[in-house]
Amino acid sequence: MKVRKAVIPVAGLGTRFLPASKAIPKEMLTVVDRPTIQYIVEEVVASGIEQVILVTSAGKAAIENHFDYDFELDTVLARKNKQGLVDELRHVSNLIDVVSVRQKKPLGLGHAIWSARNVVGDEPFLVLLGDDLVQAETPCCKQMLNLFEELQSPIVAIQRVPLEETFQYGIIEGQAVRDRLTKVDHMIEKPAPGTTDSNMAIIGRYLLTPEIFDLLEKTTPGHGGEIQLTDALMALSNKRGMYAYEFEGTRYDAGDKLGYLKAIVAFAARHKTLGPAFCRYLKEVAAGL
Ligand code: UTP
Repeated sequence: MKVRKAVIPVAGLGTRFLPASKAIPKEMLTVVDRPTIQYIVEEVVASGIEQVILVTSAGKAAIENHFDYDFELDTVLARKNKQGLVDELRHVSNLIDVVSVRQKKPLGLGHAIWSARNVVGDEPFLVLLGDDLVQAETPCCKQMLNLFEELQSPIVAIQRVPLEETFQYGIIEGQAVRDRLTKVDHMIEKPAPGTTDSNMAIIGRYLLTPEIFDLLEKTTPGHGGEIQLTDALMALSNKRGMYAYEFEGTRYDAGDKLGYLKAIVAFAARHKTLGPAFCRYLKEVAAGL
């Protein structure tokens, strides 16, 4: 079955990014020349998806507005003959069909995805975390969609992390199928140091089948009263089988201060017009350290 929809949860509180995220959603913070969330929507568009479902909460209207058409701004810019800007803004509002649903309480990532169940319906779908950026030759989602055509099973994207960092991630244990592909046996949410020798960390890209919604409904709240996605993923893996895919590319956790800074440097260095001058500046800075 063709994957047509992508769910992007953006309803989190963003506490790691306070005070910057107090009045501005962290997904709206700028990386070079556009907000983080725009890169994520562009990845979805470049992967051939037809609809984005944003899971939002109070205070996140700026994200919906960003992808909306702004008649007043369009008219003022056109009157001032700023055609380049008019085109750019129209491009953003025409990127893809965007609908949004509300997560009424911040009850965790699992609950956020469950909130999209009526709009997703009975079909496989992608999930992209609103603050996880991936820089890749072939968009990470496209790589996963290609694999799904072959496997017809849920897939989670993973990256290898140093063992001393595994406690920050959901970790996969399983059997290697081939290069970059593992059949999932177990998943451990934020394992205590020394409790796993796997370094396969789940990142913010998932390709799920609709059975996940019933499983999320049955998942009892875990740490902090939150409905953990990992518990439902483990149940889905037992039911349908699941694969972990080591995507080709680099992931940046833009919801974390250091990850965000790294993303800015990486995206600026590769920027078509700004890149060369920025790289020269980086060399100057490095030489002066
Ligand atoms: P994070 O773990 O980054 O949580 O969520 P957060 O609340 O956004 O940020 P911190 O940890 O407090 O700094 C990963 C993704 O899941 C969404 C977030 O918006 C983010 O895109 N999320 C998380 C929800 O949509 N709802 C939730 O209840 C929790």
